[in-house]
Amino acid sequence: MTTNPGMSSHRRLWIALLLLSARVAIAHDLDDVDIPKLGMSRSEFLLDPARAVQASVAEDFVTSFYDQTLDHFNYRPESYNTFKQRYVVNSKHWGGADYGAPIFAFLGAEAPIDGDIATAGFLTDNAAQFRALLVYIEHRFYGESIPYGMTFEKAIGDADTRGYFSSAQALADYAEILIYLKQKWKAEHSPIIVFGGSYGGMLASWFRLKYPHVALGALASSAPILYFDDIVPQDAYYSIVAKSFLESSSSCHQTIRRSWEEIDRVASEPRGLTKLSNAFKTCSPLQSSSELKKYLRLQYAKVVQYNNPFAQPLEFMCDAINGAPPRKGLLQKIFAGLVAINGNLTCYVNPSGSDAQTPSGWFWQTCSEMAFPIGITRNTMFPPEPFNLNSFSNACKSEFGVPPRPHWVTTYFGGHDIKLILHRFASNIIFSNGLQDPYSSGGVLKNISSTVVAIYTAKGSHCLDILGADKSDPDWLVEQRKTEVKIMKKWLAMYYADLRAFGN
Ligand SMILES: *[C@@H]1O[C@H](CO)[C@@H](O)[C@H](O)[C@H]1NC(C)=O
Ligand SMILES: *[C@@H]1O[C@H](CO)[C@@H](O)[C@H](O)[C@H]1NC(C)=O
Repeated sequence: MTTNPGMSSHRRLWIALLLLSARVAIAHDLDDVDIPKLGMSRSEFLLDPARAVQASVAEDFVTSFYDQTLDHFNYRPESYNTFKQRYVVNSKHWGGADYGAPIFAFLGAEAPIDGDIATAGFLTDNAAQFRALLVYIEHRFYGESIPYGMTFEKAIGDADTRGYFSSAQALADYAEILIYLKQKWKAEHSPIIVFGGSYGGMLASWFRLKYPHVALGALASSAPILYFDDIVPQDAYYSIVAKSFLESSSSCHQTIRRSWEEIDRVASEPRGLTKLSNAFKTCSPLQSSSELKKYLRLQYAKVVQYNNPFAQPLEFMCDAINGAPPRKGLLQKIFAGLVAINGNLTCYVNPSGSDAQTPSGWFWQTCSEMAFPIGITRNTMFPPEPFNLNSFSNACKSEFGVPPRPHWVTTYFGGHDIKLILHRFASNIIFSNGLQDPYSSGGVLKNISSTVVAIYTAKGSHCLDILGADKSDPDWLVEQRKTEVKIMKKWLAMYYADLRAFGN
């Protein structure tokens, strides 16, 4: 056990959110859908007053609704329907339209926008020095931005309505709102920089490529835009999970590696599933050992993906696994790891949670276009679990009546030969990553040109750079953010020079 007392409150808070996300992550009983969650937020940043955006700052945010076009790409009568799309503006530090002061636009992702405002501290931290206007736009179908004013459940449950739930529609929404806001504020010469983390980071980079007349540049934090089709090996994600465990503690890695066979062995005994259910205090009896194994796999993925220098959940989990009394069996060690990161709960593994928007909405998105082929064929810590497009398709068809289109993302946005394709075409994108994040394996980690750059840290995890700064941040994180700020200032300087040269 690490005994640094300063860590404990971070850890408790981390535990609280992990618990929350664990509950929603298995809202669906889908054995074939095994894509680790995306998203920026980890617990302590939402809950820790030191890191979340302060309440006094929160007062400066004004919420509005835009009458958004339901369907940007067709001219059928129903396409012209509109719905209320939520956006939030903070103009406290804005230098104003007369000065062409910039606009920072945060592109919402697979969650209500409220959480992002508190989480994406990079924007509020830097608004003053850029004299930037901040705009946060909610992604359609999440939060309060649901077509026809429907409830989320109704919209996602209706095949015709959820047909309008796509990344292309979302990007067009952002373009429409941003153009409208510039007109409204007479800020036609205020350059826009778009921001996003995780799936939202993917959107930010694609937005710069598709709408260069709207966004001058993009900061895409932890955006796995290459984890599609056959661009990266399906093993890439879980290889990083295993490597991180191995580097954190080889005995912990070893214990987990040996546990899978033990789970199967116990499961095959008479009343084996009951024994396993008891050992893991499951909330309802296990139907199969794979249910337990999938849950554990995603827990290990999450501690690595959201590992960070403050709470160190990976180390915390391994301390518990290694520290369990030796007379206790292998499975008790694994269970101790679960307790360490989830807290002392009345039950584990398959809590019956209410359906939240993010898992259901994201499930649709993965089943339509965001079909990340994440699987395991060879791994030092996990048994093989190859990505199986057939069974994934079947799960999607049985839930939504349609199969995923696994080649659509690369068809519409590209991804293959990215340097060859974008080297001369694209500009002004920062792809930031932390190499500890398993999703960084699908990120852009090489510089594509002098202005399409990869800024990564060896020790960072998922979306760490876009969170708020804190005095206790390690130097490498401080440096990463400084580099990003410097690059954005260059984009702006170039833009203002161009404006003088070509503007009127
Ligand atoms: C769980 O409860 C045990 C026994 O009361 C305690 O020693 C342990 O610290 C608790 N663990 C967590 C993570 O709260
Ligand atoms: C890419 O270029 C930027 C800016 O010149 C630099 O800071 C960064 O280290 C480079 N990244 C890589 C992966 O070489």
